[in-house]
Amino acid sequence: MDLDKAIRERHSVRRFKTKKPDYVKILEAIDAANKAPLAGNIPTIKFLLVSDKEKIQQLAEAAAQDFVATVHYVVVVCSDTANCTRTYEERGELYSTQQAGASIENFLLKITDLKLATCWVGAFSEKMVGRILQIPPDIKVEGIFPIGYEMGATKQRTKPFINSIVYFDFWGNEYMKPKRKPEAG
Ligand SMILES: Cc1cc2nc3c(=O)[nH]c(=O)nc-3n(C[C@H](O)[C@H](O)[C@H](O)COP(=O)(O)O)c2cc1C
Repeated sequence: MDLDKAIRERHSVRRFKTKKPDYVKILEAIDAANKAPLAGNIPTIKFLLVSDKEKIQQLAEAAAQDFVATVHYVVVVCSDTANCTRTYEERGELYSTQQAGASIENFLLKITDLKLATCWVGAFSEKMVGRILQIPPDIKVEGIFPIGYEMGATKQRTKPFINSIVYFDFWGNEYMKPKRKPEAG
């Protein structure tokens, strides 16, 4: 799939078929996530591929979102921020979160490319997720991603028009003024 198509087609899916995906495909998406930029190339991101049915049910409860329990695989993305703060101190926290986001977007695009589907689930009890998956307390849980095949079709969400999100040269200037032609002679 070409990049524009993957970007266009990516959308959050909350209804899944019962068909089980090949977990190797999910590893491919994790591999794509692993190619994202990293501040100082310091790795901070870890992926937990969960297939245990009971744990998946518990993750759905930790998020209070039933659809999470309807899949065969859930990927939990975590950050080991200490790797980054050791080098970048306070900025390290920010970099760690930013690179998790970059990595997750790669993951989402590759999931789309593989004709799989997911939804970024960010609302959950971090304490509960930590307990279910034995995650050490200093590791941050960034998101939960139930993976499956889309059931039916999901309406694409509209996004803001580009002219409402771009400024030119200074904050608030919505117009790119054409450059003047040099005077003749
Ligand atoms: C940080 C973050 C947290 C999110 N948390 C949830 C969530 O807990 N549950 C959910 O159903 N969707 C969640 N979403 C998905 C958004 O609702 C979804 O991206 C948004 O409605 C736009 O739809 P789209 O992804 O199809 O473009 C989250 C998305 C992001 C980026």
